Amino acid sequence: MNATMSLDKTQHQPVMLDQVLSIISPQHGGIFIDCTFGGGGYSQAILKHPNTKVFAIDRDKLTKKYANQLANKFPKRFNFNLSKFSNLKNIFNLNPSPKAIVFDLGVSSFQLSDYERGFSFQSTGNLSMQMGINKYSAFDVVNNLDKRNLASIIKILGQEKDGKIIANQIVRYRTKKPINTSEELANIIRRAKKNYSRFKTNPATKTFLAIRIFINQELSELISGLFAATELLKNGGILAVVSFNSLEDKIVKNFFNYYSSLNKNPSRYLPQKEEKPNLFKLFLKKPLTPNKKEISKNIRSRSAKLRYAIRNDNSFFYSNEIQKKFQKIFNVEEIML
Ligand SMILES: C[S@@+](CC[C@H](N)C(=O)[O-])C[C@H]1O[C@@H](n2cnc3c(N)ncnc32)[C@H](O)[C@@H]1O
Repeated sequence: MNATMSLDKTQHQPVMLDQVLSIISPQHGGIFIDCTFGGGGYSQAILKHPNTKVFAIDRDKLTKKYANQLANKFPKRFNFNLSKFSNLKNIFNLNPSPKAIVFDLGVSSFQLSDYERGFSFQSTGNLSMQMGINKYSAFDVVNNLDKRNLASIIKILGQEKDGKIIANQIVRYRTKKPINTSEELANIIRRAKKNYSRFKTNPATKTFLAIRIFINQELSELISGLFAATELLKNGGILAVVSFNSLEDKIVKNFFNYYSSLNKNPSRYLPQKEEKPNLFKLFLKKPLTPNKKEISKNIRSRSAKLRYAIRNDNSFFYSNEIQKKFQKIFNVEEIML
């Protein structure tokens, strides 16, 4: 099998794999952490190089079948843990420290195309949208959450301007019967969005994304994962993140920016910044994006953005500046049912 393909190529095509590999350079060996194992595309491509070891994580128990295949093939060089990556620091006892830690965020094609899991608009199975290790399902949220909180989730996490109108329609509908499937939910949203036929994408796209982010607490997971990875990496260690929506990318960009520009004071008229050292020595402001060829082969890659930074030898310290900046978003993810 071609090592640059996913273990089951009908399931998931790894996004921006070539660019990720050229940044983390597994051909020179080393320890790598794949925080979002999925179909194993990244892990497998790294393991193709003989002096590598991969420690992989995924929260979805269905990824275990791919992980088991790799574990059988590379028993000494591959280790998998079913967990959330916010837990990263407590999972692996790594010595020497990893050469690179990679995140390829969001859902995999095999999660999206599994109609039983309710991620897609046409799904007639359970209204779940759970990646794994969750508190709530999408069914719980759309059938039980009060209108005001539902509107905040849709508006803030989905960046959907019609959040209130959509929440109204959802609440009106569920007084008659529970919303059981994603297809049913998508139809309610379509009716709530006026002139939907003008839209290029499905009118339910932003609302589905919002509910998925909420159910899986994706943005709080991301910020915790970034902190944990930065703490684990030592001098020269690479942190690479592929994101798929603008909130994810904003968090990644701000995180890298903050920890790589602490000792630059932009203007002499501004108060001096805290006297804290940078944690990253290289961070490119502009993200890398997939080329046309990849987008034409794999439409899912079109919104991908790859950012990376390289750790220096300063000791890790936690700062709540970034958390403060995105507090409104993190608060929405904390809404209780
Ligand atoms: C886009 S896929 C990764 C695909 C993978 N790079 C490949 O080539 O096959 C994202 C995966 O990350 C997992 N995931 C998302 N958020 C996670 C989290 N907070 N902790 C652990 N796994 C997570 C999802 O379950 C999914 O399997």
